[in-house]
Amino acid sequence: MTRLLHPSLPDRPGGVPVTTPIYQTSTYELPRTPEAAEIASAVAPTGYYTRYGSPNAAEAEAMLAELDGAERALLLGSGMAAVSAALLSNVRAGTRVVAQTNHYTAALTLLRDVLPTFGVDVALVPQEALPDAAPGADVVYAETPSNPAMVLTDLAAVRAAAPSALLIVDNTFATPYNTRPLELGADLVAQSATKYLNGHSDVTAGVLTGSAELVGRAWETARVLGPVCHPFEAWLLARGLRTFPLRMARHNDNAQRVAEALSAHPRVTAVHYPGLPSHPQHDLARRQMTGFGGMLSFTVATPEEAQHVLRSTVLAGNAVSLGGTETLITHPASLIFSHGGTSDTVDASLLRLSVGLEEPEDIVEDLLRALDT
Ligand SMILES: Cc1ncc(COP(=O)(O)O)c(C=O)c1O
Repeated sequence: MTRLLHPSLPDRPGGVPVTTPIYQTSTYELPRTPEAAEIASAVAPTGYYTRYGSPNAAEAEAMLAELDGAERALLLGSGMAAVSAALLSNVRAGTRVVAQTNHYTAALTLLRDVLPTFGVDVALVPQEALPDAAPGADVVYAETPSNPAMVLTDLAAVRAAAPSALLIVDNTFATPYNTRPLELGADLVAQSATKYLNGHSDVTAGVLTGSAELVGRAWETARVLGPVCHPFEAWLLARGLRTFPLRMARHNDNAQRVAEALSAHPRVTAVHYPGLPSHPQHDLARRQMTGFGGMLSFTVATPEEAQHVLRSTVLAGNAVSLGGTETLITHPASLIFSHGGTSDTVDASLLRLSVGLEEPEDIVEDLLRALDT
């Protein structure tokens, strides 16, 4: 048994691997010197214990910090791990948090139901009113464009209204390709890397970017709560990130084409896409975004018609999540109760599209056929 567990391995002559190997280990043999204590006490050490960090997480973090222009990035096991680490590491009883009524449903549950049980004072305000409501807040939490309403938050206006508040932004929909919140005054950016950053619908991960101090504080919280991004997931994410700008350029182009085609269809009553001049915040979108992203939502005349379209698309699959290579369609009102949300802000005639990388005419044809049948 001992020989089985400690085989003598042959030397491995040859070059070094071109891609980073997957460090599929939960722990690391440490030097038997005082350096071991230094490794153990570092923020996100890469060779200590995988809940603390790993070489694969560190590689993805270096790429993600680069994309956001951030001092440091922290990779976690899901977008919600990033959102909750960002908030939990910066609030305590009595902290005043101001956030939007439009948020991804689980973030809304955290803000509305979980944080108040710890004595955190949370105010949720209509998204466009966030700059007006921000003065006096200790923490402002924004999401832009918001899921699924596609409403924008004016980040520079929030920053100007509350210069000393900690501003946390969920940039999942826009991605750093289209919006760079740190340059607009945000302190911490939270993103679901499950979506565009990875881009292939095969990983659940999340990322926080910001100053080394804020990211270090979030790491302390995450280390205790334990939402690890495992080495294989981190490796897949780093692979996905290598084509991120190429994919985003195509997502932006395809979504613009789809948004325009849907706008021209008589059975579509509204299209919510920041790249359309008809979007009420198109001017803000042009100021704040360098491209308008791959997400859009649209309404038809009735909830039944929305259900009909959902059942009739062939190319666009009915699945939650977004940002993959394939076009996905969802009917948020059918799903929102199962996620503990409320229907206050979600129209039952609204469908959400994550526009994929297929030929744009094929996506348009699929949708128009579903609308026409
Ligand atoms: C805007 C936004 N933020 C955060 C999340 C949470 O991400 P994850 O599912 O990776 O936890 C999602 C998921 O859909 C999202 O759409």
